[in-house]
Amino acid sequence: MTINTTEPRTIKIFDTTLRDGEQSPGASMNIEEKLRLAKQLHKLNVDVIEAGFPIASEGDFQAVKKIAQTIKGPEIAGLCRTGFMDIDRAWEALQYAEERGRIHIFIATSDIHMKYKLQMTPSQVLESAVTGVKRARSYTKNIEFSCEDAARTDLKFLVEMVTAVIDAGALTVNIPDTVGYTIPFEYFNIIRHLQDNVPNIDRATISVHCHNDLGLAVANSISAVQAGAGQIECTINGIGERAGNCSLEEIVMAIKTRSDILPFRTHVATDQLTPASRLLTAVTGIVVQPNKAIVGANAFAHEAGIHQHGVLMEKSTYEIMTPQAVGLTTNALVLGKHSGRHGFKKRLEELGYELTREELTKAFTRFKALADLKKEIFDEDVDAIVADEVMRSSERFKLSHLTVTSGSFAVATATVQIEIEGEQMRTAELGDGPVDATLKAIKKLTGSDAMLAQYNVGSITSGTDAQGEVTVRVVEGDRTVIGRGSSTDIIEASAKAYIDALNRLHFGSGIPHSLGSCGAL
Ligand code: KIV
Ligand code: ZN
Repeated sequence: MTINTTEPRTIKIFDTTLRDGEQSPGASMNIEEKLRLAKQLHKLNVDVIEAGFPIASEGDFQAVKKIAQTIKGPEIAGLCRTGFMDIDRAWEALQYAEERGRIHIFIATSDIHMKYKLQMTPSQVLESAVTGVKRARSYTKNIEFSCEDAARTDLKFLVEMVTAVIDAGALTVNIPDTVGYTIPFEYFNIIRHLQDNVPNIDRATISVHCHNDLGLAVANSISAVQAGAGQIECTINGIGERAGNCSLEEIVMAIKTRSDILPFRTHVATDQLTPASRLLTAVTGIVVQPNKAIVGANAFAHEAGIHQHGVLMEKSTYEIMTPQAVGLTTNALVLGKHSGRHGFKKRLEELGYELTREELTKAFTRFKALADLKKEIFDEDVDAIVADEVMRSSERFKLSHLTVTSGSFAVATATVQIEIEGEQMRTAELGDGPVDATLKAIKKLTGSDAMLAQYNVGSITSGTDAQGEVTVRVVEGDRTVIGRGSSTDIIEASAKAYIDALNRLHFGSGIPHSLGSCGAL
């Protein structure tokens, strides 16, 4: 093992959960949800929060503006294309962050993107990039420029482009692997080539932004910093378009855990990683796979007898990092019927949830109702309560009552009552099973023509009294949302999940898929 003795180089962490992460199907968030996550990203101490793509939608504009106004500490970035309308709109939202407001401009530079997507020549693309950076320079010095699909860009042109945008005023140049195509040594060589051949490179920080199509986003990002990059772009839980982006928790823990051979450090407060991951799941409904590194349910579970034995004798036999380092608290206290508001609040705080008084009251009421039905309330139940009661900030439709009859000889019937903008509406429908009847009734009451693309039901904990959790993926036009609901009654959980999805379609601020990859022109 090589022991590193030189002073570690600090790598900036640029979080793009609220922008590139939000572009993953179903991850669209409204303004309050984005703000809630931005507060957690601040606690995580990331250097830059990319809050959205202001010109993409009014909701995204308002979210970037609100975050720029509210979050003090990290830099706040907003994405835009090279056109003046995009740049002006981005600054209109970012100006509240003053010098911490970062205009992030991008244009594609690979032959394939320039020819087929942009239908522009390389010199037109270069000119557009330089003009865009100069326009942004009239607002701020804090400018990042991204060469979209850089990893597949002709190296000579990439050098020319990077040199030109730095000359025009970009302080950060991003070299994205937009389609997750590159492999570590190749990406290392690209970054090294830029370091060695861009004459003004000392005036800018090289940033890297890796997608995970080949499962190499973290490995590629590590290679890039070894080659000299100073900023890594990543997302919580690795969410993002297609296979996602470089996962923040993985890259940060790789740098921390292997500091013996990686002479780098970040500012991230790693004990906030698990709370950030939980919060993102609660907000978006996108569940983390159990075997996901760092934040998956099994990441620190030593199931096999031989491993348990080793860990009991000496933790370092199988544990390369501690659960506490990533903010995983062991649940010493199982909540139940006799737990009071204080105990419940304490557990919420230990799990990383910061609720207002009003939110706590809502969650506690639901907790008490659940504790009457279920002997022990586990952390996963608490997560589901928060997701169900607190994260549903905007509700156009609200389930009031549900009665279902079904059985082997009966046609399933559901009578559903929903509050729609303050008015109670009721209807009954027959269906092919109780879930079908319930969803048909909801569809009829809400007048929605959204398509149910996926329906999953699972149990939150074990036991026949466990809460069921239903996740639905619903598509309407060019928007996809994920809805989630939990209850000890799975038909009620299904109704809640479907209604949650319809509310998200109604209030979502997401970037429509029609804007395409990275909001292509
Ligand atoms: O993947 C990509 O190229 C992007 C850029 C806009 C930074 O998301
Ligand atoms: Zn991207």
